[in-house]
Amino acid sequence: MEDDVIHITPGGKLTGEMTVPGDKSISHRAVMLGAVSEGVTVVKGFLDGADNRATVDAFMSMGVDIKRTAPGSLTIEGRGLRGLREPEDVIDAHNSGTTARLLTGLLSAQNFFSVITGDRSLRSRPMRRVVDPLLKMGACVCGRRDSSLLPLAILPRKLTGISYSTPVSSAQLKSAILLAGLYAEGETRVTERRKSRDHTERMLALFGADVMVEDHSVMVKPAGALKGCSVVVPGDISSAAFFMLAALVTPGSELLIKDVGVNPTRTGVIDVLKKMGGSVDCYNSRVVSGEPVADILVKSSPLTGVHISSDELLPAIDEFPVLCVAAALSRGSTTITGGGELRVKESDRIAAMSRALTSLGVKNEERSDGMIIEGIGAGLLKGARVRSLGDHRVAMALAIAAMRSDKGVEVEGAASVEVSFPGFFTQLENIRKG
Ligand code: S3P
Repeated sequence: MEDDVIHITPGGKLTGEMTVPGDKSISHRAVMLGAVSEGVTVVKGFLDGADNRATVDAFMSMGVDIKRTAPGSLTIEGRGLRGLREPEDVIDAHNSGTTARLLTGLLSAQNFFSVITGDRSLRSRPMRRVVDPLLKMGACVCGRRDSSLLPLAILPRKLTGISYSTPVSSAQLKSAILLAGLYAEGETRVTERRKSRDHTERMLALFGADVMVEDHSVMVKPAGALKGCSVVVPGDISSAAFFMLAALVTPGSELLIKDVGVNPTRTGVIDVLKKMGGSVDCYNSRVVSGEPVADILVKSSPLTGVHISSDELLPAIDEFPVLCVAAALSRGSTTITGGGELRVKESDRIAAMSRALTSLGVKNEERSDGMIIEGIGAGLLKGARVRSLGDHRVAMALAIAAMRSDKGVEVEGAASVEVSFPGFFTQLENIRKG
């Protein structure tokens, strides 16, 4: 890799077995809940990427002793719900929306002052959605542009439980309210129109919180204490998705990805790829630390364009770049709708993917909440230099597209993969056979 640009050569197929790094969302939550629990929490399969390191550093700055005991293993000495210490400096969430938004909820209920900021991308992402319900709970949070942007400053306040219907289905928003709810007087209820990923509610139950789920609502009661425990983090389906795509679109592939989290709020990518005609099957299903886990077998398959509705997109929201590349390599056209949120992820993912696909010779049309993509079927993409805009998931999806290009693809902003998948390019080269 030179100057943050990587050249991925065309061709190859994926055979054999592999695992992917731990789930990013679950790794964040294990550190957060472990930090405010009583006793020791041991995390195995922790994702040691840049985003999760931001969460670890934040809690270490609040006096929590967190040790890496082996690769992917953490030991957290919980300080209890009221044991965090005022950080001496601003908390830097770097590129991590999950760190910033969940921490805003948790810190709103602490008896000390704190400030959260992030990198340039994160400082442009919407925070008002989290601030609004916290203000209703009695929190004192303020920030740039009428508290809609980081940095946010948080002053100590006593919180009261609320019943809140979220304007967007966002697990970060839901989780921020639930974490504040652990400290609030009375019950806190969050209702979503569509159910976002539910790792927080599952993990709260694992740590002994009084949490109840009813359809699209979650209720949490103030906790006396959470109890430290052992968390085994499954492989991240959002990371597995790049290899699922690679195996589907490269002829002669047959790949088993083992120990992947298959929480139904996250498996949209499997459903959509199957709908496109992909051979994707789950085996050996089990539940580990409260989360469904399975091995995923993927075989190369001809794909056909489909319509992807908002209901289908939500459980695959982070897989939009993967689905765009799958659509580009399908026969016929694909329409993706209901993804307005994609405009405010680590990059504007609709714009990023539209521009990159155009460079790769794929006709497409940007919509405010999605895209129409005219697939090239069994042909090859045009080799080109493409921009990931420093967005890890865009970079990885474009690297896979390169395998089905005539001359290979140069991906700009390749170092961003460190955010969620350190070692991605090495693993891709190791599993890929020419
Ligand atoms: C996440 C929730 C989703 C997702 C993000 C991780 C989480 O974001 O896109 O990558 O861990 O809660 P939103 O809550 O903004 O939908």
